[in-house]
Amino acid sequence: MSHIAVLDFGSQYTLLIVRRIRELGVESRVYPGSVGADELEDVGGVVLSGGPGSVYEEGALLPDRSVFDMGVPILGICYGMQAMAQMLGGRVEAVGEKEFGDTEFDVVYESKLFLDMPSEFRVWMSHGDEVVEVPPGFVVSGITKAGKVAAIEDASRRFYGLQFHPEVVHTPRGMDVLSNFVFRICRLKENWSMRDFVEEKIKELRETLVDGRVVCGISGGVDSATAAVLVNRAVGGRLISIFVNNGLLRKGEEKDVLRILRDELGLNVVYVDASLRFLQALSGVVDPEEKRRVIGREFIKVFEEVASEIKDVKYLLQGTLYPDVIESGAGGFKAHRIKSHHNVGGLPEKMKLQVIEPFRYLFKDEVRKVAVELGVPDFVINRHPFPGPGLAVRVVGEITARRLEILKEADKIVEDEIRRAGLYDKVWQAFAVLLPVKTVGVKGDRRSYENAVVLRVVDSKDGMTADWVRLPYEVLERMSNRIINEVKGVNRVVYDVSTKPPSTIEWE
Ligand code: XMP
Repeated sequence: MSHIAVLDFGSQYTLLIVRRIRELGVESRVYPGSVGADELEDVGGVVLSGGPGSVYEEGALLPDRSVFDMGVPILGICYGMQAMAQMLGGRVEAVGEKEFGDTEFDVVYESKLFLDMPSEFRVWMSHGDEVVEVPPGFVVSGITKAGKVAAIEDASRRFYGLQFHPEVVHTPRGMDVLSNFVFRICRLKENWSMRDFVEEKIKELRETLVDGRVVCGISGGVDSATAAVLVNRAVGGRLISIFVNNGLLRKGEEKDVLRILRDELGLNVVYVDASLRFLQALSGVVDPEEKRRVIGREFIKVFEEVASEIKDVKYLLQGTLYPDVIESGAGGFKAHRIKSHHNVGGLPEKMKLQVIEPFRYLFKDEVRKVAVELGVPDFVINRHPFPGPGLAVRVVGEITARRLEILKEADKIVEDEIRRAGLYDKVWQAFAVLLPVKTVGVKGDRRSYENAVVLRVVDSKDGMTADWVRLPYEVLERMSNRIINEVKGVNRVVYDVSTKPPSTIEWE
């Protein structure tokens, strides 16, 4: 399937360019900036992203020359345009004053890139360098009000450059520019809808998974459940989903998840109740990262034991998403974030399994669309995010069966009340945390000395930053009253009013 390759030079907007092109209905993928033409297969056009550097600096990351000989259209954005200009014989210099923000753009050349668009429009810029001399064969096709070069092109080679960012919402006509590039210049056809994706993937999976069984770990989360349903469609009974109950799930979750996976989605599920094992392994562990390590290790052990009992297993299915692929540093990307993840790392080599990742190129909201396409119930699709180590990172300090039980009950009340107030789908996460602190209270006429529970309800777009939700007092009141009255061992409830950063969403 022909796609647009977006070469990454470190701009914070690189993935946004990919998203925008997909919104136009055309497949797009990101590659490291230094990729060579021989690694770009089935590419109908190339975008050179922006970047923080200067193209004339020593050691600047530049595109490989071979990319300019591919014969496909190229669109350079900001740094991408400067790199193209310099490499093809033009000149780039520092601007006297860094230009940042909204500015007026004038089209000064009849360009396919600006076809059916007004001759002036607002654009968004952020740059410290500019093209002062275009390369041979190029013309200036757009300028800013101050007369600076803002767009260049060589229509015969189909090379285009923009100093502004068409991918950001502050360039209101940006989608028209990208659309002209993708459809009129690259001449691509729409090939990216979630319905097509599902059909193509099923076909591809049937061809790849020729024989043998596929195993996957499943938790009730949308990514793994949707991946399982997709593969189940492709190879039916040859997929075995392993559901390890680590005892750290929300109250009653294992029953709900099992019912949905087995009865509603028709998956072949092996259910293992390993709660006791996890509890024993966690005994005496208080450090949050150590908890994660213990849980990860135990999960792999249990999963491996179960999987090794299944005959003829050849593949391991994982619900890996595009941002994880990029963050993990695969394919030459720099890893920018460190996350200790709860997955089945190490297992594929040990069991000689081939890893299957059908969502490797999808964003979370695209997986949700695939889930809708495949008839995954709303309960799974719109469930709040839940950390891999589960309630272990919400029982602050030592984990015991009793403390887990207290948290599960309190947490259930938080969820019930958030739903009752009609807020479940409006907030990012709502949960309870159990503190390793006892405080004095009075219940009846008696002094009590019991646990304190924290309510944590946050808004977020992607979990990277978050704000606490200004819950109505009545909702807070109901949660607090119910927890103190109904959960044995709790005599105090507090509300967490910290933002991320500097706090995090979870307490551990
Ligand atoms: P923090 O606490 O880092 O959480 O602000 C951001 C988002 O990530 C979830 N989270 C985790 N997810 N394994 C996961 O799979 C983990 O160890 C983990 N820690 C936090 C958290 O629930 C929030 O949505």
